[in-house]
Amino acid sequence: MIVLRPYQSTIAPNMNYTSPVKICCIGAGYVGGPTMAMIAKQCPDIQVHVVDLNQARIDRWNSDELPVYEPGLDEVVKEARGRNLTFSTQVDAAISEANIIFIAVNTPTKSFGIGAGRAANLEFIEKCARQIAKCSKGHKLVVEKSTLPVRTAEAVKRILSSAANGATFDVLSNPEFLAEGTAVQDLLHPDRVLIGGESSEAVERLAQVYGRWISRERILTTNLWSSELSKLAANAFLAQRVSSINAISALCEATGADVDEVAKAIGTDSRIGSKFLKSSVGFGGSCFQKDILNLVYLCEHFGLREVAQYWEQVVVMNDYQKRRFSERIVRTMFNTVSDKKIGIWGFAFKKDTNDTRESAAIHVCRDLLEERARLAIYDPRVPESQIREELQLAFADSVGGLSDKHKKLIETNVTVVGDAYAAANEAHAIAVLTEWDEFKSVDSRRILEDMRRPAFVFDGRNILDRNKLVEQGFEVHSIGRPSK
Ligand code: NAD
Ligand code: UGA
Repeated sequence: MIVLRPYQSTIAPNMNYTSPVKICCIGAGYVGGPTMAMIAKQCPDIQVHVVDLNQARIDRWNSDELPVYEPGLDEVVKEARGRNLTFSTQVDAAISEANIIFIAVNTPTKSFGIGAGRAANLEFIEKCARQIAKCSKGHKLVVEKSTLPVRTAEAVKRILSSAANGATFDVLSNPEFLAEGTAVQDLLHPDRVLIGGESSEAVERLAQVYGRWISRERILTTNLWSSELSKLAANAFLAQRVSSINAISALCEATGADVDEVAKAIGTDSRIGSKFLKSSVGFGGSCFQKDILNLVYLCEHFGLREVAQYWEQVVVMNDYQKRRFSERIVRTMFNTVSDKKIGIWGFAFKKDTNDTRESAAIHVCRDLLEERARLAIYDPRVPESQIREELQLAFADSVGGLSDKHKKLIETNVTVVGDAYAAANEAHAIAVLTEWDEFKSVDSRRILEDMRRPAFVFDGRNILDRNKLVEQGFEVHSIGRPSK
């Protein structure tokens, strides 16, 4: 049976699905907030209520300074908020009023117990399912928006089936594929929307919501398990491409080849394609590593040892790439960075987001601090408190404790500054860790005047004009290129 099929509206209306759509989304994070804002913008007649336990986050969704920085998101939220888009902490009320409930809560890697360091922590999902069971009456559609291990819907269905007041449910899997930094465009023009489910009426109901602005050919339907697995597999494939090109970058540095030239040469093969071949200091973000480890855990659970080992290498290679970058800095700077000022340009895990979860910058900064470097960190969107919190977490032990030594190291050796020039002032080196556009247009002569000699530049994103910088007198080290 072929299960992957473009959506076709062939279903007769079901009695369960005749009333107007009212949406609740549990989880007002990087996915719940933007996704629901887009649905509300595109469907002015649909009430969308986004709820979260985190009062501070909800307050920011209701303010002019949204908790998520995404180009174009302010406009989308402003258009719908107060009209048909609401943010609150009234979880029970929102569940009881809605007939479609999205679950978009976090599913981090487990840090304790069975499967620690690999399996997904499904505590928040289970709590949501129990709360939905408790607060529901009549018939509701429950949509898994979070990224989940295959067969989680089975557990969700079992919990829902214990609903006290006779409520009934259909459960769908509708994973989100947006990337941070381009979320608004990804939501407006997705490559595809994936809906996995058992009830064709329920699938139809959700497809009709997306069908308001997304063409029907792009709405794919599958069985529940294919949908859950496709999300993990998609992230694993994307991350694998980054690790593959990063593996090649190490060979380029050893041989004199240029990784950007190699990426172009292989990417023009239409069977390979050019996207996701940008070599970097390593991939970050809250999902790639978490989802691959989740996949690895699933494979191990099903006794597929070789498959698990295969995917785990993607993460191993990424760790190597991050470590390799900081080691190269130390080695190049005469084997010591102790008491040397290093300007860190960028802390977010990629440009155009304020998200720092699993950012490669955290690992590089931690390694350099271990070497007693003095860091001056600048990121256009990440506040100082968040940078310090991430660094403290990076030094914390397995139960979250931070030693006095590391606390002091962060306090004395890290300053967070207001622009790229301040980070470079009197610095022995600059390390570019996020590819923010503004770094490409800095006044490099001014930077050079302010720096110590030799003026080292370590470009972890290959975004700077290397030839120009070398001509001006910098010593430039890029990813996947012989040093100049
Ligand atoms: P997030 O941490 O930004 O947001 C999750 C929110 O859920 C938090 O604000 C938290 O307070 C809230 N929450 C947790 N339990 C709750 C409960 N019981 N009731 C109410 N609120 C609760 O996470 P995110 O980045 O939005 O990711 C959410 C899910 O989407 C994850 O499974 C992730 O893998 C997946 N995903 C994320 C992205 C992304 O770009 N961040 C993209 C695609 C998929
Ligand atoms: C990724 C996927 O692209 C989304 O489809 C998915 O929905 C999402 O994960 C998720 O499930 O959370 P995201 O992590 O937001 O999105 O951003 P990406 O653009 O994928 O970048 C991830 C990391 O890889 C970043 O650190 C980025 O700098 C790095 N990267 C990406 C490279 O180093 N090289 C590349 O060529 C592409």
